[in-house]
Amino acid sequence: MSNYHIKHLEEYFQVYRKSVRNPEAFWEEVAEEHFVWLKKWDRVLDWDFTKPEIKWFEGAQLNITVNCIDRHRHIRGQKTAILFEPNDPNEEAEHITYNQLHERVCRMANVLKDKGIKKGDRVVIYLPMIPELAISVLACARIGAIHSVVFAGFSSTALATRINDCGAKMVLTSDGSYRGNKTIDLKAIVDEALNDCPDVETVLVAKRIDSKIKMKDGRDEWLQPLVDKAYADCVPEIMEAEDPLFILYTSGSTGKPKGMMHTTAGYMVYTAYTFKNVFQYREDDIYWCTADIGWITGHSYIVYGPLANGATTVMFEGVPSYPDFGRFWQIVEKHKINQFYTAPTAIRALAKENLDFVSKYDLSSLKVLGTVGEPINEEAWHWYNDHVGEKKSPIVDTWWQTETGGILISPIPFSTPTKPTYATLPMPGVQPALMDENGNEIKGNPADGRLCIKFPWPSIARTIWGNHQRYKDTYFSAFKNKYFTGDGALRDEVGYYRITGRVDDVIIVSGHNLGTAPIEDAINEHPAVAESAIVGFPHDVKGNALYGYVILKETGETRDRDNLRKEINQQISDKIGPIAKLNKIQFVPGLPKTRSGKIMRRILRKIASKDTSNLGDTSTLLNPEVVEQIMKEAL
Ligand code: PRX
Repeated sequence: MSNYHIKHLEEYFQVYRKSVRNPEAFWEEVAEEHFVWLKKWDRVLDWDFTKPEIKWFEGAQLNITVNCIDRHRHIRGQKTAILFEPNDPNEEAEHITYNQLHERVCRMANVLKDKGIKKGDRVVIYLPMIPELAISVLACARIGAIHSVVFAGFSSTALATRINDCGAKMVLTSDGSYRGNKTIDLKAIVDEALNDCPDVETVLVAKRIDSKIKMKDGRDEWLQPLVDKAYADCVPEIMEAEDPLFILYTSGSTGKPKGMMHTTAGYMVYTAYTFKNVFQYREDDIYWCTADIGWITGHSYIVYGPLANGATTVMFEGVPSYPDFGRFWQIVEKHKINQFYTAPTAIRALAKENLDFVSKYDLSSLKVLGTVGEPINEEAWHWYNDHVGEKKSPIVDTWWQTETGGILISPIPFSTPTKPTYATLPMPGVQPALMDENGNEIKGNPADGRLCIKFPWPSIARTIWGNHQRYKDTYFSAFKNKYFTGDGALRDEVGYYRITGRVDDVIIVSGHNLGTAPIEDAINEHPAVAESAIVGFPHDVKGNALYGYVILKETGETRDRDNLRKEINQQISDKIGPIAKLNKIQFVPGLPKTRSGKIMRRILRKIASKDTSNLGDTSTLLNPEVVEQIMKEAL
């Protein structure tokens, strides 16, 4: 039996039992046998969810890039590590071998060092999906700098908030990016953000779209000439197991985004382990995850997990609709992709198009299909299974979060029988629990409750950067001694989990987490707006879309409504990014509130979803008449 590579269901159950009976022994064996350590740990696990404090492999020393790059060189130095597929299908794909990756990461690491970046410094990376993005991430890890990648679709305000929150001294960006047949001036967005970021000393700019950009003297420099001059080897920094590896921001239901901090050893062990098992990766496979490295999926399952296993991992710069809706499948055929990992929203968008876009390509290389980021509905699941997987490639519906670092619940392909819409069973070492409203664990099956995890797994985020109290309040206060995920879930008769969605004020739109409060704040800054409330409503492609109820100030009452709608969405785009724009905006005279002044979102959600036959208990409403009026004018 192999703990590291599960090959059938019986083995899964055996490994799972072992992992729960003695988690320390289980993870110790995995860590011992599959990674390179400069020094082994003194203690496997130390934890206390009440503080909360979690430490894995304390005392160990390592560098994650040695595990992701150096150790592969003598056996697979000529193997492609990163396969870059550009936005334009006519531009040649780039195969970066493990040897070349080593050189490029070392050169970049030396550039960072020359610019004064040291272990523990924060570097914000605001780059499109070009090789420099993965290389920058790894270069930071090489020298012990803490990377914080900001998705290059975020606005300048969102970027500035993140730069300031983590106290970055340096920003890595590019002149611009391609998105289908459009270009985006990333450098201009960075310039704008940096007006509010006094601590940033250096901006290094990769050339991608060859546009004319402004360079600020003494602050901005082109990256490539520096890389060309840099020395091609860089001794890896010695990292302690619990040294921070990266900070990645995720939306909360209130307040500013949360900088989830992940540390080195546990994150490495867990992402590598889950990559191997969830995708059943074999030496010559070509693996492709379509996510952006700006999200956790890209961190864990484009960069670290695959590279730790010596895999070939594809980085795609473009979008699924350019030059047409067959692009994904054209790439699958071209590179003979074996494992394909994407989001339900992409599947739903492609399923709406003509089947010819899929059927004209040879997809026979595919062995495993994955989804992530939001619940997958039954129809999309079947379309994916029938037309992409041709009913022979198991679908792994992987449930996890930015906070969890790696996949927690997922089938293991060829072992776990799949069931549409179910993420199925916990990974080894993961102990889920469903809780009722009184805070008690619901034992037995079937069950329906709030999803918690009872025991630490190696890649759990250790804190929220600069705000440990918020970390405790958000994840460890709702249920005693348990990590609370914020999700609701069902457990069926055989113990399979189905994630039903968020139970807080986070709304998942096209797989992106959006908190209601930051969007409402952005709207309320519009001079004509008095107050607003955002809810989600079902959308056939995005999963959820946003519906905004807006109360205007007297000065706004006379304004043209369509213009106001445009301005409000522009305001959201400027403050957060286009992903947070509202699908519908209804101007209302008031919002339904309880006597204590809380907005009754439940009612607003029902109206937005056109499900008003039973509004539930409205007896605590301060202003029931407003509900009638909102319903009458609902969009
Ligand atoms: O609600 C769950 C949903 O996405 C949330 C986490 O979002 P984020 O931190 O952005 O990470 C997404 C990529 C890991 C979860 O709380 N979610 C994620 N995967 C699934 C899912 N919901 C249902 N099924 C999934 N497979």
